[in-house]
Amino acid sequence: MRYEAEGGDPSNAGLQYGRAFLEPVKEKHPWITYSDLWTLAGVVAIKELGGPEVDWKPGRTDLVDDSKVPPRGRLPDGAQGADHLRFIFNRMGFNDQEIVALAGGHNLGRCHTDRSGFEGPWVNNPTRFSNQFFKLLLQLKWTPRKLANGMSQFVYEDPDAEEGDELLMMLPTDVALKTDPSFRQWVERYAEDKDLFFDHFAKAFAKLVELGIRRDEKDAILNTDNVKGGYISAPKKSNTPTGPPKKPKAPRARL
Ligand code: HEM
Repeated sequence: MRYEAEGGDPSNAGLQYGRAFLEPVKEKHPWITYSDLWTLAGVVAIKELGGPEVDWKPGRTDLVDDSKVPPRGRLPDGAQGADHLRFIFNRMGFNDQEIVALAGGHNLGRCHTDRSGFEGPWVNNPTRFSNQFFKLLLQLKWTPRKLANGMSQFVYEDPDAEEGDELLMMLPTDVALKTDPSFRQWVERYAEDKDLFFDHFAKAFAKLVELGIRRDEKDAILNTDNVKGGYISAPKKSNTPTGPPKKPKAPRARL
C-alpha cells in the first residue's frame, strides 16, 4: 500500500486517511515497518472500539520496490454478490464462515460517496465494535436505492426519520450474506451470539493479517525478503493522504 499500484487502487479508496493518521506514530518510532504498523493499528483499533483481542505477531519487512504488489482486481467489490465474495476470499483461503465473520468489519465506519461511491453508515453507533451489523441485516427491511451518482445500494427507510436524516445502508455484498443460505446461517448465529462472532472474527482477522507470511516454530519469518534483508523499515512517507483520485460528491441518501 506504500506504492501507487496498490494505494492508488480505487478499491482501496479511503485507506489513505488511515495511513496518514499513522504517520506521526511512524515519525516517533521510525524502526517499525509499515507492514507491522498498519496491521498492528488494525488490531489495536478493533480492541479500542470494544472488539475482541486479535492475535498479532511482529516481524514483517517492508519491500524495497513494488514488484510484489498484487495485481489489481483481487479486492472485493461491494456492488456484487455471493459468488463474487467466494471468488475473492476462497483464493485467500477463507471459507463461508470466515467470509461472514470478516464482513462483520462493517460494524465500524461508513461509506463515503467521494471514496467508494456508496453512502452512509451500516449501524447507528459506528465507532463501537459489536454484532449489530448482523442484527440489523436480519431485522430491518432493506430497500434497493439508486444514488444520484448511479451506484445501487440498500437503505432502511426508517419511518421515524426526519427530512435530511441519514439512512442506514447495506452494500449489495452485505445483503448477499442474508440471501445466500450458506452465508445466512452464520449471519443468524453471529446476530444471536456476540461472543461467538467476536471469537470467529478475531481468528479470521488474525489469519488475514498473516496472509503471505511464513514463520518457523519460534515465529521468525521465513519469507525470502525477510531472510535476505531482515527487518527493513521503509523511510517515512508524507503526512498528506495520497490515494485514488476522489470521486465527485453525490448528495446524501435521503428519504
Ligand atoms: C466482504 C467484502 C467487503 C467489501 C465488498 C467491502 C466494501 C467496503 C466499502 C465499499 C466500503 C466503503 C468505503 C468508503 O466509501 O469509505 C467499506 C468500508 C469499510 N470496510 Fe469493508 N468491505 C469488505 C470487507 C471488509 C473487511 C474484511 C473489513 C474488516 C475486517 C472491512 C472493514 C471496513 C470498514 C471498517 C469500513 C469503514 C471505513 C470508513 O469508515 O472510512 N471491510 N468496505
